[in-house]
Amino acid sequence: MASSLAMCRLHMTGRSSFVKSLQKLDNFLHRCVGTDVAAAQTETARTDESDETERHKSLHTLLEERQKQAERSVLISCQSRTSEKKFLKHLSRHGDVQKYFFYESYGLYAVVEFATRESVASLLEGTVIPFVSHESVVPFKSRLLSLRNLSSTDTPNQQSGHKCQPQTTIPINELIQRLSREESINQQLTFLTEAYQITEENSRLRFLVCSLLKDCAAAYFPECDIKPFGSTVNGFGKLGCDLDMFLDLDSISGWNVKMPKSGLSLEFQMKRANSERAVTQSILSVIGECVDQFGPGCVGVQKILNARCPLVRFAHQPSGFQCDLTANNRVAMKSTELLYLYGELDPRVRSLVFSVRCWARAHSITSSIPGAWITNFSLTVMVLFFLQKRNPPIIPTLDQLRDLAGPEDKCVIEGNDCTFVSDFSKIRLQSNTETLEKLLCEFFEFYSTFSFSRMSINIRKGTEQNKPEVAPLHIQNPFETSLNVSKNVNATQLDRFVALCQESSWLLQQNVTNVPSGSINPTPWGLATLLLPSQVAGIKSRKKMRREPASERIKGLLESLKNKNSAKRS
Ligand code: GTP
Ligand code: MG
Repeated sequence: MASSLAMCRLHMTGRSSFVKSLQKLDNFLHRCVGTDVAAAQTETARTDESDETERHKSLHTLLEERQKQAERSVLISCQSRTSEKKFLKHLSRHGDVQKYFFYESYGLYAVVEFATRESVASLLEGTVIPFVSHESVVPFKSRLLSLRNLSSTDTPNQQSGHKCQPQTTIPINELIQRLSREESINQQLTFLTEAYQITEENSRLRFLVCSLLKDCAAAYFPECDIKPFGSTVNGFGKLGCDLDMFLDLDSISGWNVKMPKSGLSLEFQMKRANSERAVTQSILSVIGECVDQFGPGCVGVQKILNARCPLVRFAHQPSGFQCDLTANNRVAMKSTELLYLYGELDPRVRSLVFSVRCWARAHSITSSIPGAWITNFSLTVMVLFFLQKRNPPIIPTLDQLRDLAGPEDKCVIEGNDCTFVSDFSKIRLQSNTETLEKLLCEFFEFYSTFSFSRMSINIRKGTEQNKPEVAPLHIQNPFETSLNVSKNVNATQLDRFVALCQESSWLLQQNVTNVPSGSINPTPWGLATLLLPSQVAGIKSRKKMRREPASERIKGLLESLKNKNSAKRS
């Protein structure tokens, strides 16, 4: 029970400094773009009080705000020689531009957010259907536009100087170098989160793609909504992650509509199908077809309707996002909300999840291709479980969050209890002051020795449970508790994970520190060493694995670091 825990307040000081460091990054990004007039004006006026409000924003509020911004926005393919000033002047004829930024993805694009939706309507009014010789066009008008420069005054060589916002992460080699320049492992962990997380602009672009897709789906279901879920919004997404979307038909499906008890009432006549799954399949099939035939910029559309969770997969070329559209997927939305809540509770949660996800990707423990690999979702649940197991726990269990829930939080989906508290202020955390460095070390140690053969990972209870089924890795689905979220993982992949945890734990225990060399190619140390290629996994089986690194290369690297350290000190 939550009440039985010796709860205390959030560590506001640590939290506040972390949030400020994120804001510094955000401010830096804004300065780079230099386009958010409103933000620039209010930045200096921001107080710690507004920090507080920002901090405790629920996912629901965040989604609403972002969706509204997206509906007031357009995506424009630009010609790089067009001057920014001219471009803005042209757009401003339709109303105030609230925010804009440029990015590159097979060409130059601009995301432009107007102050009102009327401005977007006015802009579209003045937009023409292209004339293409020898070809015909599908006359579907969307908010994905192309800017043509018909003026002869701009010369092709004219430098417009558009500053572009990066939409992908820095390459791993560069990351290793940058991490190696940091002075402590804690700083490395914070840097990694800052460098890899989805930026403000990337988030806006993601919501805009959802909004563009909604325009397609609205041709059939005008009241529908398309919401992002998964790493786009759970707080653990890195630049370049896929865009998971969910077609929300709840406002029209009638599952929460109260029937009148007496008198006359009219109801819609509707086609019937054998199951909800069959309905989902037919809806996705039609929308998939529409996206394929009419959706500007949507390519490689695949309808994967027989999957456990039917989906339409495609690439959205102008944004560069790999998109998965699902429907009737309310449990996944709830999982997203839960992960978001955990990430908001303590800044160490996000940093640790980020670092572990990045480490796992660097060693191909996770993959963007479906298979017997551990997924990012499973890995995140493993980190959360580890944090619940700290003494005192850093985050509460799901059962504790359920016990704190009010009547407004009650949620049952297909018979599964998905209730948990949404009001952050009701959650009191215990006073755990462990550093990120310590937590990272302990994470690897924890899973190096975890009894995967007998026990199941369970974030609802916060303790390991006897495995209910034979599977190499058993992680209980937090909401559909009879399911194993890591059912796909085979013994080889689990062995690789454990072997890498052992090696990483060993590496971090060597206490190698940074020796500033001023070199542009600093020697990797700390977290950076963990991201270097390893030869350990896949060679030895878990039983044969001893608690030492198998990689001679890493041993050699550590030796050279130690020698370098002692040479500097002497
Ligand atoms: P990325 O690898 O960055 O895309 O991480 P992700 O968290 O977005 O994972 P993914 O795209 O695989 O899945 C999207 C969301 O679906 C997750 O965040 C979960 O909310 C949910 N999800 C994925 N896999 C499972 C699963 O096995 N069980 C349940 N209940 N939900 C899942
Ligand atoms: Mg995803």
